[in-house]
Amino acid sequence: MRTDDLIHFCPPARLIMGAGARAQLPSLVSYLGFRHGLLVTDPFFSTRTPWVREYVDEAAREGVETFVFDGGVADPTTTLCDDATVQIHAALGGRVPDHVIALGGGSNIDLAKALCLTLREGRPVREFVGTSAAQRPLPLIALPTTAGTGSEATPGAILVDPSNATKVAVMDNALRPQIALIDPEFTYTCPPNVTADAGIDALTHAIESYLTTDSSVYDRAEHPDPGYSGRSSITMTFARESIQLCARYLKRCYDDGTDTEARAGMCQASVYAALSYGSAGLNAVHGIAYAVAGLTHRSHGTTNAVMLPYVLGALTGTRRTELVELARIFGIEADDDRAAIEALCRRVRTLIASVGIPTDLRALGVPRSALPALTQDALAVTRLAKAFPVPNVAAAYADVVQRAFDGQIGKTPVRVHATSA
Ligand SMILES: NC(=O)c1ccc[n+]([C@@H]2O[C@H](COP(=O)([O-])OP(=O)(O)OC[C@H]3O[C@@H](n4cnc5c(N)ncnc54)[C@H](O)[C@@H]3O)[C@@H](O)[C@H]2O)c1
Repeated sequence: MRTDDLIHFCPPARLIMGAGARAQLPSLVSYLGFRHGLLVTDPFFSTRTPWVREYVDEAAREGVETFVFDGGVADPTTTLCDDATVQIHAALGGRVPDHVIALGGGSNIDLAKALCLTLREGRPVREFVGTSAAQRPLPLIALPTTAGTGSEATPGAILVDPSNATKVAVMDNALRPQIALIDPEFTYTCPPNVTADAGIDALTHAIESYLTTDSSVYDRAEHPDPGYSGRSSITMTFARESIQLCARYLKRCYDDGTDTEARAGMCQASVYAALSYGSAGLNAVHGIAYAVAGLTHRSHGTTNAVMLPYVLGALTGTRRTELVELARIFGIEADDDRAAIEALCRRVRTLIASVGIPTDLRALGVPRSALPALTQDALAVTRLAKAFPVPNVAAAYADVVQRAFDGQIGKTPVRVHATSA
């Protein structure tokens, strides 16, 4: 029993999950009284799947008209968001939609989240970076097609700021979707690299939030409605379940995209991870991965994956019990705790390599000379650095970055090479 927990748990308003669940959406949208919608997606979904047309036609039969914007791209920028705001305003003759639907991976969902703020008055998204409390967003319905970022259950939208190539966050609990509808069939078309990136992202969310700062000591900056507030019994329950599902299904999904049980398993893993990190928050893996992405322009999942095993190793002193528990979930039996934790770090790294993702910073093309600046850039993301549960965060970040460069787990540097499908 965790008697010290201070729980501030914020899920999406409705969570609907199941193969084929998308068929329920038109009547639900109509039942909720919505009449004029905007569907945000990208050309893959509008031209290569029947899902957009099916929804629009069925919603029309239910009395709901829907304008489709399919200009989404991977890692959307603030510029794209502002251009889309202007374009959609013009196309709708200035009328503001009464709901926004996002169909796609984390990128389309994040673009849609940002549009929920900007479309009301046509203001630039930069005005909402940080918190959006001054503006109530339009209601959002999220239909994730990857498993996944979990953006369908989180308070944030992440956009690239092209002026300095960093990612900025728009963050508010009001941005959590009114409906998160997870239909595993949406993920059947994911190619192996997208399956791998998104799956490792989900595993990272679950593990990182399982090990993060406790809710009883989390720095909420006196915010009355914090988006993130540290781990608690409820977030850890979701995280544990998610990690078990990832251990069982991630590689299966990557090896065989037609394995429908594995696809459903990873969809559950993704949303459970989001129900954990979407309230508990994240720390060093994401903090350092953002800096690595700024340098290498590699995907979110890949940059997280590279850091994960080395960050785990840095928590041996403060999260020993939990790490040994994770080792057991991965089927590891060892003579003592330290050996179990080292084996866990290696097992996670082997899993990452087995889905075709590089496992050290050199393999991503990061030069040794970039390591000090990389560490400083990562530490500058203070909202994540402050939640890393170690006594000396700066020293721990420097050590993790060095180990990730050398590929060093425990005492021996070993390079593990990615194997692509
Ligand atoms: N807001 C949050 O809480 C949050 C959390 C984590 C990540 N993110 C953001 O999410 C983004 C990454 O999202 P992602 O990993 O879901 O990938 P993505 O949305 O960037 O999509 C990557 C590519 O895969 C394609 N794709 C997606 N689903 C597909 C499907 N079912 N079939 C075929 N192709 C498909 C897309 O069209 C795109 O070309 C990053 O920008 C990251 O910053 C946001």
